[in-house]
Amino acid sequence: MKTALITGITGQDGSYLAGHLLRKGYKVVGLKRRTSIICTDRIDCYFVHPRFSVEYFDLNDSSCMLSKIIKHKPDEIYNLAAQSHVKVSFELPEHTVDGIAMGTLRLLNIIKEVSPKTKFYQASSSEMFGDNTNAPFNEESKFMPASPYACAKTFAHNIVRNYRESYGLYACGGILFNHESPERGETFVTRKITMAAAKIRHGLQDELVLGNLDAKRDWGYAGDYVEGMWMMLQQKDPDDYVICTGETHTIREFLDIAFEHIGIKDWTQYVVVDQEFYRPAEVDYLRGRNKKARENLGWTPKHSFKDLVKLMVDHDTKPTKE
Ligand code: NAP
Ligand code: GDD
Repeated sequence: MKTALITGITGQDGSYLAGHLLRKGYKVVGLKRRTSIICTDRIDCYFVHPRFSVEYFDLNDSSCMLSKIIKHKPDEIYNLAAQSHVKVSFELPEHTVDGIAMGTLRLLNIIKEVSPKTKFYQASSSEMFGDNTNAPFNEESKFMPASPYACAKTFAHNIVRNYRESYGLYACGGILFNHESPERGETFVTRKITMAAAKIRHGLQDELVLGNLDAKRDWGYAGDYVEGMWMMLQQKDPDDYVICTGETHTIREFLDIAFEHIGIKDWTQYVVVDQEFYRPAEVDYLRGRNKKARENLGWTPKHSFKDLVKLMVDHDTKPTKE
Protein backbone atom coordinates (compact mmCIF):
# COMPACT_ATOMS: atom_id res chain seq x y z
CA MET A 1 0.00 0.00 0.00
CA LYS A 2 1.35 3.45 -0.90
CA THR A 3 1.62 6.16 1.76
CA ALA A 4 1.04 9.84 0.95
CA LEU A 5 1.71 12.84 3.18
CA ILE A 6 -0.43 15.91 2.45
CA THR A 7 0.58 19.26 3.95
CA GLY A 8 -2.34 21.70 4.16
CA ILE A 9 -4.81 18.86 4.71
CA THR A 10 -7.45 21.21 6.19
CA GLY A 11 -7.58 23.36 3.05
CA GLN A 12 -9.83 23.07 0.00
CA ASP A 13 -7.34 21.05 -2.07
CA GLY A 14 -6.16 18.97 0.90
CA SER A 15 -9.69 17.70 1.43
CA TYR A 16 -10.32 16.85 -2.25
CA LEU A 17 -6.89 15.22 -2.65
CA ALA A 18 -7.35 13.13 0.51
CA GLY A 19 -10.61 11.76 -0.92
CA HIS A 20 -8.96 11.03 -4.26
CA LEU A 21 -5.99 9.18 -2.72
CA LEU A 22 -8.16 7.17 -0.32
CA ARG A 23 -10.26 6.02 -3.27
CA LYS A 24 -7.01 4.96 -4.98
CA GLY A 25 -6.13 2.76 -1.97
CA TYR A 26 -3.46 4.97 -0.37
CA LYS A 27 -2.72 5.39 3.32
CA VAL A 28 -3.10 9.16 3.77
CA VAL A 29 -1.39 11.11 6.53
CA GLY A 30 -2.67 14.67 6.62
CA LEU A 31 -0.49 17.34 8.20
CA LYS A 32 -2.12 20.35 9.86
CA ARG A 33 -0.78 23.27 11.82
CA ARG A 34 -1.85 23.85 15.39
CA THR A 35 -4.74 26.34 15.75
CA SER A 36 -6.48 27.47 18.92
CA ILE A 37 -9.83 26.40 17.51
CA ILE A 38 -9.73 23.03 15.78
CA CYS A 39 -11.25 23.52 12.35
CA THR A 40 -11.31 20.28 10.38
CA ASP A 41 -14.76 20.69 8.78
CA ARG A 42 -13.53 19.85 5.29
CA ILE A 43 -11.96 16.53 6.36
CA ASP A 44 -14.25 15.40 9.19
CA CYS A 45 -15.83 12.84 6.84
CA TYR A 46 -12.49 11.01 6.51
CA PHE A 47 -11.66 10.51 10.21
CA VAL A 48 -13.60 7.24 10.31
CA HIS A 49 -11.52 5.90 7.42
CA PRO A 50 -8.97 3.28 8.60
CA ARG A 51 -6.32 4.56 6.16
CA PHE A 52 -6.64 8.23 7.16
CA SER A 53 -4.95 10.10 10.02
CA VAL A 54 -3.92 13.65 10.86
CA GLU A 55 -0.84 14.90 12.69
CA TYR A 56 0.57 18.32 13.57
CA PHE A 57 3.28 20.04 11.59
CA ASP A 58 4.25 23.54 10.55
CA LEU A 59 5.95 24.93 7.47
CA ASN A 60 8.45 26.70 9.76
CA ASP A 61 9.52 23.58 11.66
CA SER A 62 12.19 21.46 9.94
CA SER A 63 12.61 19.09 12.88
CA CYS A 64 8.94 18.20 12.70
CA MET A 65 9.09 17.65 8.92
CA LEU A 66 12.12 15.41 9.38
CA SER A 67 10.43 13.25 11.98
CA LYS A 68 7.25 12.89 9.89
CA ILE A 69 9.26 11.73 6.87
CA ILE A 70 11.36 9.28 8.93
CA LYS A 71 8.24 7.97 10.69
CA HIS A 72 6.00 7.46 7.64
CA LYS A 73 8.56 6.85 4.85
CA PRO A 74 6.05 8.32 2.36
CA ASP A 75 5.99 7.27 -1.28
CA GLU A 76 4.55 10.68 -2.18
CA ILE A 77 4.40 14.10 -0.52
CA TYR A 78 1.92 16.74 -1.70
CA ASN A 79 3.00 20.16 -0.43
CA LEU A 80 -0.24 22.15 -0.40
CA ALA A 81 0.23 24.17 2.80
CA ALA A 82 0.48 27.94 2.31
CA GLN A 83 -0.92 31.28 3.35
CA SER A 84 -2.76 31.21 0.04
CA HIS A 85 -4.61 34.55 -0.07
CA VAL A 86 -2.95 36.99 -2.46
CA LYS A 87 -4.29 40.17 -0.87
CA VAL A 88 -3.39 38.95 2.64
CA SER A 89 0.17 38.33 1.42
CA PHE A 90 0.60 42.13 1.10
CA GLU A 91 -0.36 42.44 4.77
CA LEU A 92 1.66 39.41 5.99
CA PRO A 93 4.59 39.35 3.54
CA GLU A 94 7.24 37.75 5.76
CA HIS A 95 4.91 35.07 7.11
CA THR A 96 3.63 34.25 3.61
CA VAL A 97 7.05 34.14 1.99
CA ASP A 98 8.74 32.21 4.78
CA GLY A 99 6.09 29.49 4.79
CA ILE A 100 5.92 29.06 1.02
CA ALA A 101 9.54 29.63 -0.02
CA MET A 102 11.51 28.39 2.98
CA GLY A 103 8.90 25.76 3.85
CA THR A 104 9.32 24.18 0.42
CA LEU A 105 13.11 24.35 0.62
CA ARG A 106 13.05 22.74 4.08
CA LEU A 107 10.97 19.83 2.77
CA LEU A 108 13.16 19.35 -0.31
CA ASN A 109 16.35 19.31 1.78
CA ILE A 110 14.96 16.67 4.10
CA ILE A 111 13.79 14.53 1.17
CA LYS A 112 17.24 14.84 -0.42
CA GLU A 113 19.00 13.80 2.78
CA VAL A 114 16.80 11.04 4.17
CA SER A 115 14.23 9.93 1.60
CA PRO A 116 15.44 10.63 -1.97
CA LYS A 117 13.01 8.14 -3.53
CA THR A 118 9.95 10.02 -2.17
CA LYS A 119 8.04 11.76 -4.95
CA PHE A 120 7.23 15.42 -4.29
CA TYR A 121 4.38 17.60 -5.60
CA GLN A 122 4.64 21.37 -5.18
CA ALA A 123 1.49 23.53 -5.34
CA SER A 124 2.72 26.18 -7.78
CA SER A 125 0.38 28.87 -9.03
CA SER A 126 -0.74 30.75 -12.14
CA GLU A 127 -0.20 33.90 -10.04
CA MET A 128 3.49 33.45 -10.94
CA PHE A 129 2.67 34.80 -14.44
CA GLY A 130 1.48 38.03 -12.80
CA ASP A 131 2.24 41.02 -15.04
CA ASN A 132 3.05 38.94 -18.12
CA THR A 133 0.69 40.09 -20.88
CA ASN A 134 1.40 37.24 -23.33
CA ALA A 135 -1.44 34.90 -22.40
CA PRO A 136 -2.31 32.08 -22.76
CA PHE A 137 0.41 30.83 -20.41
CA ASN A 138 2.10 27.45 -20.54
CA GLU A 139 5.05 25.80 -18.76
CA GLU A 140 7.55 27.92 -20.75
CA SER A 141 5.90 31.31 -20.16
CA LYS A 142 7.81 33.97 -18.27
CA PHE A 143 7.05 34.44 -14.57
CA MET A 144 6.45 38.08 -13.60
CA PRO A 145 5.07 37.71 -10.06
CA ALA A 146 3.09 40.71 -8.74
CA SER A 147 2.61 39.98 -5.01
CA PRO A 148 4.62 38.61 -2.07
CA TYR A 149 2.58 35.40 -2.46
CA ALA A 150 3.47 35.05 -6.15
CA CYS A 151 7.15 35.91 -5.54
CA ALA A 152 7.32 33.16 -2.92
CA LYS A 153 5.56 30.64 -5.19
CA THR A 154 8.02 31.51 -7.96
CA PHE A 155 10.98 30.81 -5.65
CA ALA A 156 9.40 27.52 -4.55
CA HIS A 157 8.71 26.48 -8.15
CA ASN A 158 12.27 27.28 -9.21
CA ILE A 159 13.86 25.47 -6.26
CA VAL A 160 11.78 22.38 -7.04
CA ARG A 161 13.15 22.37 -10.59
CA ASN A 162 16.66 23.04 -9.27
CA TYR A 163 16.54 20.10 -6.82
CA ARG A 164 15.10 17.86 -9.54
CA GLU A 165 17.94 18.73 -11.89
CA SER A 166 20.74 18.91 -9.30
CA TYR A 167 19.92 15.87 -7.17
CA GLY A 168 17.68 13.75 -9.38
CA LEU A 169 14.66 14.07 -7.08
CA TYR A 170 11.24 13.13 -8.45
CA ALA A 171 9.81 16.60 -7.83
CA CYS A 172 7.05 18.28 -9.85
CA GLY A 173 5.60 21.78 -9.91
CA GLY A 174 1.89 21.83 -10.70
CA ILE A 175 1.14 25.29 -12.07
CA LEU A 176 -2.54 25.35 -11.21
CA PHE A 177 -4.86 28.12 -12.30
CA ASN A 178 -7.72 29.19 -10.00
CA HIS A 179 -9.85 26.26 -8.91
CA GLU A 180 -12.98 26.51 -6.85
CA SER A 181 -15.61 24.33 -5.18
CA PRO A 182 -18.15 24.40 -2.37
CA GLU A 183 -15.10 23.91 -0.08
CA ARG A 184 -13.42 27.10 -1.31
CA GLY A 185 -12.32 29.54 1.41
CA GLU A 186 -15.01 32.11 2.15
CA THR A 187 -12.85 35.18 1.40
CA PHE A 188 -11.95 34.19 -2.17
CA VAL A 189 -14.09 36.04 -4.68
CA THR A 190 -16.05 33.07 -6.06
CA ARG A 191 -17.18 31.73 -2.70
CA LYS A 192 -17.83 35.24 -1.42
CA ILE A 193 -20.22 35.70 -4.34
CA THR A 194 -21.97 32.32 -4.10
CA MET A 195 -22.48 32.65 -0.32
CA ALA A 196 -23.81 36.17 -0.72
CA ALA A 197 -26.14 35.14 -3.56
CA ALA A 198 -27.54 32.37 -1.36
CA LYS A 199 -28.11 34.76 1.56
CA ILE A 200 -29.68 37.39 -0.69
CA ARG A 201 -32.01 34.74 -2.09
CA HIS A 202 -33.11 33.88 1.46
CA GLY A 203 -33.47 37.55 2.45
CA LEU A 204 -30.56 37.34 4.90
CA GLN A 205 -28.24 39.85 3.15
CA ASP A 206 -28.86 42.86 0.93
CA GLU A 207 -25.39 44.02 -0.10
CA LEU A 208 -22.23 42.40 -1.45
CA VAL A 209 -19.04 44.49 -1.24
CA LEU A 210 -16.36 43.55 -3.77
CA GLY A 211 -13.18 44.97 -5.32
CA ASN A 212 -12.03 44.87 -8.95
CA LEU A 213 -14.82 43.35 -11.07
CA ASP A 214 -12.85 43.48 -14.33
CA ALA A 215 -10.10 41.00 -13.46
CA LYS A 216 -10.22 37.82 -15.55
CA ARG A 217 -9.49 34.35 -14.25
CA ASP A 218 -9.26 30.84 -15.71
CA TRP A 219 -11.55 29.11 -13.19
CA GLY A 220 -11.89 25.32 -12.89
CA TYR A 221 -13.24 22.77 -10.42
CA ALA A 222 -10.96 21.69 -7.54
CA GLY A 223 -12.07 18.04 -7.76
CA ASP A 224 -10.77 17.86 -11.34
CA TYR A 225 -7.51 19.61 -10.46
CA VAL A 226 -6.41 17.27 -7.63
CA GLU A 227 -6.53 14.41 -10.16
CA GLY A 228 -3.93 16.34 -12.17
CA MET A 229 -1.71 16.58 -9.06
CA TRP A 230 -1.83 12.81 -8.58
CA MET A 231 -1.25 12.11 -12.30
CA MET A 232 1.95 14.19 -12.24
CA LEU A 233 3.46 11.83 -9.65
CA GLN A 234 2.53 8.67 -11.62
CA GLN A 235 4.69 9.40 -14.69
CA LYS A 236 8.03 7.81 -15.60
CA ASP A 237 9.84 11.14 -15.24
CA PRO A 238 9.12 14.20 -13.11
CA ASP A 239 8.16 17.45 -14.81
CA ASP A 240 6.17 20.68 -14.39
CA TYR A 241 2.62 20.97 -15.72
CA VAL A 242 0.01 23.69 -16.23
CA ILE A 243 -3.48 22.65 -15.10
CA CYS A 244 -6.24 24.96 -16.33
CA THR A 245 -9.39 25.10 -18.46
CA GLY A 246 -8.04 27.40 -21.20
CA GLU A 247 -11.03 29.76 -20.78
CA THR A 248 -11.09 33.06 -18.96
CA HIS A 249 -13.99 35.01 -17.44
CA THR A 250 -14.48 38.26 -15.58
CA ILE A 251 -15.91 38.54 -12.09
CA ARG A 252 -18.90 40.24 -13.73
CA GLU A 253 -19.57 37.05 -15.72
CA PHE A 254 -19.36 35.01 -12.52
CA LEU A 255 -21.88 37.39 -10.94
CA ASP A 256 -24.18 37.11 -14.00
CA ILE A 257 -24.44 33.31 -13.71
CA ALA A 258 -24.60 33.18 -9.90
CA PHE A 259 -27.41 35.73 -9.61
CA GLU A 260 -29.31 34.44 -12.63
CA HIS A 261 -29.24 31.01 -10.98
CA ILE A 262 -31.07 32.39 -7.94
CA GLY A 263 -33.56 34.21 -10.16
CA ILE A 264 -32.09 37.74 -10.03
CA LYS A 265 -31.52 39.33 -13.44
CA ASP A 266 -29.73 42.48 -12.30
CA TRP A 267 -27.02 41.95 -9.64
CA THR A 268 -25.84 45.56 -9.86
CA GLN A 269 -28.50 46.64 -7.36
CA TYR A 270 -26.82 44.44 -4.71
CA VAL A 271 -23.10 44.85 -5.49
CA VAL A 272 -21.04 47.71 -4.11
CA VAL A 273 -17.44 48.25 -5.19
CA ASP A 274 -15.04 49.33 -2.45
CA GLN A 275 -11.31 50.12 -2.69
CA GLU A 276 -10.82 48.07 0.48
CA PHE A 277 -10.91 44.93 -1.67
CA TYR A 278 -8.42 46.19 -4.24
CA ARG A 279 -4.80 45.05 -4.02
CA PRO A 280 -1.65 47.21 -4.15
CA ALA A 281 -0.96 45.42 -7.46
CA GLU A 282 -3.56 43.52 -9.48
CA VAL A 283 -3.16 40.58 -11.83
CA ASP A 284 -5.62 41.56 -14.55
CA TYR A 285 -5.71 38.53 -16.82
CA LEU A 286 -5.02 34.83 -16.37
CA ARG A 287 -5.62 32.19 -19.00
CA GLY A 288 -3.68 28.98 -19.33
CA ARG A 289 -2.83 26.42 -21.97
CA ASN A 290 -3.18 22.79 -20.83
CA LYS A 291 -1.78 21.04 -23.94
CA LYS A 292 1.10 19.34 -22.08
CA ALA A 293 -1.16 18.00 -19.32
CA ARG A 294 -3.67 16.73 -21.88
CA GLU A 295 -1.04 15.04 -24.04
CA ASN A 296 1.37 13.67 -21.38
CA LEU A 297 -0.96 13.01 -18.45
CA GLY A 298 -4.27 12.46 -20.23
CA TRP A 299 -5.77 15.10 -17.94
CA THR A 300 -8.77 17.21 -18.99
CA PRO A 301 -11.13 19.44 -17.00
CA LYS A 302 -14.57 17.83 -16.62
CA HIS A 303 -16.63 20.79 -15.33
CA SER A 304 -17.60 23.84 -17.39
CA PHE A 305 -17.46 27.37 -15.95
CA LYS A 306 -21.24 27.60 -15.86
CA ASP A 307 -21.60 24.23 -14.09
CA LEU A 308 -18.98 25.26 -11.54
CA VAL A 309 -20.79 28.48 -10.63
CA LYS A 310 -24.13 26.69 -10.38
CA LEU A 311 -22.83 23.85 -8.24
CA MET A 312 -21.30 26.34 -5.79
CA VAL A 313 -24.51 28.40 -5.64
CA ASP A 314 -26.62 25.25 -5.19
CA HIS A 315 -24.42 24.12 -2.32
CA ASP A 316 -24.60 27.49 -0.55
CA THR A 317 -28.34 27.78 -1.13
CA LYS A 318 -29.14 24.51 0.65
CA PRO A 319 -31.27 25.16 3.74
CA THR A 320 -28.51 23.77 6.07
CA LYS A 321 -26.32 26.68 5.00
CA GLU A 322 -28.74 29.41 6.10
P1 NAP B 1 -6.33 26.86 1.36
O1 NAP B 1 -7.73 26.37 1.32
O2 NAP B 1 -6.05 28.24 1.80
O3 NAP B 1 -5.51 25.84 2.29
C1 NAP B 1 -4.19 26.13 2.71
C2 NAP B 1 -3.75 25.11 3.73
O4 NAP B 1 -2.43 25.47 4.21
C3 NAP B 1 -4.65 25.05 4.98
O5 NAP B 1 -4.70 23.71 5.41
C4 NAP B 1 -3.86 25.88 5.99
O6 NAP B 1 -4.15 25.57 7.33
C5 NAP B 1 -2.45 25.47 5.64
N1 NAP B 1 -1.41 26.37 6.15
C6 NAP B 1 -1.33 27.72 6.00
N2 NAP B 1 -0.21 28.17 6.59
C7 NAP B 1 0.43 27.10 7.16
C8 NAP B 1 1.61 26.92 7.92
N3 NAP B 1 2.40 27.95 8.27
N4 NAP B 1 1.96 25.67 8.33
C9 NAP B 1 1.17 24.64 8.03
N5 NAP B 1 0.03 24.72 7.31
C10 NAP B 1 -0.34 25.96 6.87
O7 NAP B 1 -5.65 26.69 -0.08
P2 NAP B 1 -6.10 25.73 -1.29
O8 NAP B 1 -7.02 26.48 -2.18
O9 NAP B 1 -6.46 24.41 -0.77
O10 NAP B 1 -4.72 25.63 -2.10
C11 NAP B 1 -3.77 24.60 -1.82
C12 NAP B 1 -2.40 25.04 -2.30
O11 NAP B 1 -2.46 25.28 -3.70
C13 NAP B 1 -1.87 26.32 -1.68
O12 NAP B 1 -0.48 26.18 -1.57
C14 NAP B 1 -2.21 27.39 -2.70
O13 NAP B 1 -1.32 28.47 -2.59
C15 NAP B 1 -2.02 26.61 -3.99
N6 NAP B 1 -2.83 27.04 -5.13
C16 NAP B 1 -4.18 27.16 -5.01
C17 NAP B 1 -4.94 27.51 -6.11
C18 NAP B 1 -6.44 27.67 -6.02
O14 NAP B 1 -7.03 28.26 -6.93
N7 NAP B 1 -7.08 27.10 -4.99
C19 NAP B 1 -4.31 27.72 -7.36
C20 NAP B 1 -2.94 27.56 -7.44
C21 NAP B 1 -2.20 27.19 -6.33
P3 NAP B 1 -5.42 26.25 8.11
O15 NAP B 1 -6.63 25.43 7.70
O16 NAP B 1 -5.05 26.09 9.52
O17 NAP B 1 -5.50 27.67 7.63
N1 GDD C 1 -10.69 37.78 -2.66
C1 GDD C 1 -11.39 38.75 -3.31
N2 GDD C 1 -12.37 39.43 -2.64
N3 GDD C 1 -11.07 39.03 -4.59
C2 GDD C 1 -11.80 39.99 -5.23
C3 GDD C 1 -12.83 40.70 -4.59
C4 GDD C 1 -13.12 40.41 -3.23
O1 GDD C 1 -14.00 41.00 -2.61
N4 GDD C 1 -13.36 41.58 -5.49
C5 GDD C 1 -12.70 41.42 -6.62
N5 GDD C 1 -11.73 40.46 -6.47
C6 GDD C 1 -10.79 40.04 -7.51
C7 GDD C 1 -9.32 40.06 -7.09
O2 GDD C 1 -8.79 41.37 -7.13
C8 GDD C 1 -8.73 39.10 -8.12
O3 GDD C 1 -8.46 39.81 -9.31
C9 GDD C 1 -9.86 38.11 -8.41
O4 GDD C 1 -11.05 38.69 -7.85
C10 GDD C 1 -9.65 36.74 -7.79
O5 GDD C 1 -9.32 36.91 -6.43
P1 GDD C 1 -9.27 35.66 -5.43
O6 GDD C 1 -10.52 34.88 -5.51
O7 GDD C 1 -8.82 36.17 -4.11
O8 GDD C 1 -8.15 34.71 -6.09
P2 GDD C 1 -6.70 35.05 -6.68
O9 GDD C 1 -6.80 34.93 -8.17
O10 GDD C 1 -6.16 36.31 -6.13
O11 GDD C 1 -5.82 33.86 -6.07
C11 GDD C 1 -6.29 32.52 -6.07
O12 GDD C 1 -5.86 31.85 -7.24
C12 GDD C 1 -4.44 31.71 -7.36
C13 GDD C 1 -4.17 30.98 -8.69
O13 GDD C 1 -4.20 31.89 -9.74
C14 GDD C 1 -5.76 31.85 -4.79
O14 GDD C 1 -6.36 30.59 -4.65
C15 GDD C 1 -4.24 31.66 -4.86
O15 GDD C 1 -3.80 30.88 -3.76
C16 GDD C 1 -3.91 30.92 -6.18
O16 GDD C 1 -2.51 30.73 -6.29
